[in-house]
Amino acid sequence: MKNSNSANTPAIGLDVGTSRIVASAKHGDDFQFKSQLNAFVEVPWSKMTEASLKRESVPFVVHGDGGDKAIIVPGNESSRFADLLQVETRRPMNRGVLNPAEPENAVMLKQLVENLISDDRRSKLPIFYSVPAAPLGAEENLTYHDATINQIIRELDCEPTPINEGLAVVFSELEDTNYSGIGISFGGGLVNVCLSYLAVPVVSFSVAKAGDYIDSSAATITGELATRIRLAKEESFYINGHFSDKLHQVLNVYYDEMIRSVVNGLKEAFSNARSMPKIGRPIPMVLSGGSAMPKGFRDRFEKLLKESEFPIALSEIRMANNPLNSTAKGALVAALAEL
Ligand SMILES: Nc1ncnc2c1ncn2[C@@H]1O[C@H](COP(=O)(O)OP(=O)(O)O)[C@@H](O)[C@H]1O
Ligand SMILES: [Mg+2]
Repeated sequence: MKNSNSANTPAIGLDVGTSRIVASAKHGDDFQFKSQLNAFVEVPWSKMTEASLKRESVPFVVHGDGGDKAIIVPGNESSRFADLLQVETRRPMNRGVLNPAEPENAVMLKQLVENLISDDRRSKLPIFYSVPAAPLGAEENLTYHDATINQIIRELDCEPTPINEGLAVVFSELEDTNYSGIGISFGGGLVNVCLSYLAVPVVSFSVAKAGDYIDSSAATITGELATRIRLAKEESFYINGHFSDKLHQVLNVYYDEMIRSVVNGLKEAFSNARSMPKIGRPIPMVLSGGSAMPKGFRDRFEKLLKESEFPIALSEIRMANNPLNSTAKGALVAALAEL
């Protein structure tokens, strides 16, 4: 929401997630957020479809011409539209990054970013955008992804700076400990982890088992579309050890698998004492991201982490104040600190 009484935002924080893109702006003392699903649905153009979409007030764009003419429904409406048509949404990103083999995805992404920042956009506006960490033990090639986001932001006449996603979570949530602690973002494509000491990222990594993995794995078992599983999961899934139906039980199995992968990653990454600073006192751990939303998630995570003999003393394990927005907020906090 734009507040015309307050000054322009000094910068924007942009969470470029596999699942959602979130933009954060600051007007007066308020952090404000807008988001779009990082997805679209493409159907062949017909006069009838175009007319129906208009009647239903579904926003769309028409691409191409002649026999290649297509209707594209981008962003938030794509999910409902996909469910109506029983098709999968298309996703510009996969496992945290843009696919270099599909350059049209960058065009889609640009459109979503442009839409999100349109109210605040102005020349040379600083935009700090989140980038994932490499998977544990691997050198993920983030060059194409990072360069493309950078270019998209420059084409919008703004000034891009990348920030590690897990570090952004720390910036959003851990001012109290002077930005010392562990931030974890459980997203759609990836789980991103960062241990920060006095705002310096000491260890960060990603795990490629997150919400999308849960959806697609559950879909192969129940025979439904992943899009449909996702809607059901977001609407009514919780974790308490009791299973009300088959889907609930299957989701529990894959939730546990995601959590265990992260717990194993944490243990592996932080057992290497040489890379660890001597912190000397327990540090907090903050959980954020859409996949951390189900009721009971924090308790389940804590239980599995405790069973793993995690090597670092923690003062607490808590949920982020606003799990869907912490990465975008943290990116903005980082941007404001540089002004
Ligand atoms: N209320 C909810 N309950 C369970 N899962 C959710 C909920 N809201 C969002 N999600 C899941 O969170 C993931 C997206 O999280 P997000 O932090 O937006 O991801 P990303 O950083 O990948 O864009 C998706 O897998 C989505 O299905
Ligand atoms: Mg994210």
